[in-house]
Amino acid sequence: MKLFVDTGSLKEIETVAALGIIDGVTTNPSLLAKEPGDFRQNLKKICDIVKGPVSGEVTATDFAGMMREGHDIAAIDDHMVVKVPLTRDGIKACKALSGEGLRVNVTLCFSAAQALLAAKAGATYISPFVGRLDDVAMNGMDLIREIVQIYDNYEFTTQVLVASCRHPIHVVESAKMGADVATCPPAVIDQLFNHPLTNIGLEKFLKDWEKAQAVKV
Ligand code: E4P
Repeated sequence: MKLFVDTGSLKEIETVAALGIIDGVTTNPSLLAKEPGDFRQNLKKICDIVKGPVSGEVTATDFAGMMREGHDIAAIDDHMVVKVPLTRDGIKACKALSGEGLRVNVTLCFSAAQALLAAKAGATYISPFVGRLDDVAMNGMDLIREIVQIYDNYEFTTQVLVASCRHPIHVVESAKMGADVATCPPAVIDQLFNHPLTNIGLEKFLKDWEKAQAVKV
């Protein structure tokens, strides 16, 4: 499973990318709005750091505007993926942009029916938001299971990009279900490393080693 980082912060992306385990980046207007500077230049810098798929989202809500902004985003760098919302105009734009050979990430997906539409429109990625479903007392991971099954049934090539991941269990469950990508905020990626037994074990190894060295001297 690929691991993307979900942030618009250049500093965070540099730190996480240095770990060598990041395959790409997702951004959205809320995340990019937090980063100072021109968003196009920032997206270009992100592409240069990660050298993998970087999603940049359109803010237009009509088909013509989405097409215009989609072309603008795609022109930033070959690594750019155009992100469109799962609306009627978004699905139309997905079909048209995908037809031109551009990669499209359809975002704000909250149902299997919506995911089916995105696949039919040739999306490269579908982004179901698991955390936001959990927030309204629906099980976000149930949606991932449904989408993976539907895409497998018909051999759709659209990749399931699990978004709005809030904790490591979302990531592990995504991998168990066969999702293609999980995108996580840097804090969740950091949590993936943690296990108390690793810390305790390392501490003991080093203490034992030091003790042995002291005896030898
Ligand atoms: C995905 O591409 C979105 O940017 C993101 O995962 C949304 O996460 P949130 O629900 O934590 O804002």
